[in-house]
Amino acid sequence: MDFTVLTLFPELIGSFFEHGMISRGIEKNLITGHCINIRDFSCDRHNTVDDRPYGGGSGMIMKIEPLQAAILHAKKRTPESQVILMTPQGNKFNQDKAHELAVKNKGLIFVCGRYEGIDERIYNRLVDEEMSIGDYVMTGGELASMVIIDSIARLIPGVLGSLESFQSDSFTGDRLEYAQYTRPEEFEGLTVPDTLLSGNHEKIRLWRKKSSLQRTFLKRPDLFIKSELTTDEKKILKQWCRELETFVRE
Ligand code: ADE
Repeated sequence: MDFTVLTLFPELIGSFFEHGMISRGIEKNLITGHCINIRDFSCDRHNTVDDRPYGGGSGMIMKIEPLQAAILHAKKRTPESQVILMTPQGNKFNQDKAHELAVKNKGLIFVCGRYEGIDERIYNRLVDEEMSIGDYVMTGGELASMVIIDSIARLIPGVLGSLESFQSDSFTGDRLEYAQYTRPEEFEGLTVPDTLLSGNHEKIRLWRKKSSLQRTFLKRPDLFIKSELTTDEKKILKQWCRELETFVRE
């Protein structure tokens, strides 16, 4: 998967590509990361990339010409890439979307806006999809593009240490990830559940299913009702109800 980010702050993105899981994916040739400075495509000797809005009003608007030139430049290198404009007005990004983008694309070009907005004509021909990471407004699209790249990159086979690491993820199959513990066995009076220390793989599997179901029920009821309960889940829920009943009787 090829990621290209068009930005006025290339240092932000450069450092992101140089660290952690993303840099390991790049070293393993599983992903590539490119950053293009939109200012390099400005059309005047002052390197202007923004201008005052027609009709008046506060703030500056990103000009269309440098953006178009930067997008076409990126497209020349990876013609099959989809162009995604980062904006709070876009389609909401989530885990399903991350899977979809990871599976369907060879490359993605992220356009990060700054200032008060972007000349509306960018939407006409140059952008395939507008995307938002949530209902809040940031000062630019860079953080949003990094959020999206990070969550897509880790789904690409081989980028994470083992396949398991993302198959048991939070949000996979509308269930949150189960509770995890590591040493020490006791921390300031808080202990690790006995089952996890038992070495009994079947018991551990069921404990994790229960933990995942309980967490989803308590923390994300919207996800809990999104998909039907499996036979295993029904059993676990009934057992949980029995446990709660004894707790009430005591
Ligand atoms: N740019 C500014 N805010 C944003 C958001 N919430 N999502 C995507 N891009 C943005």
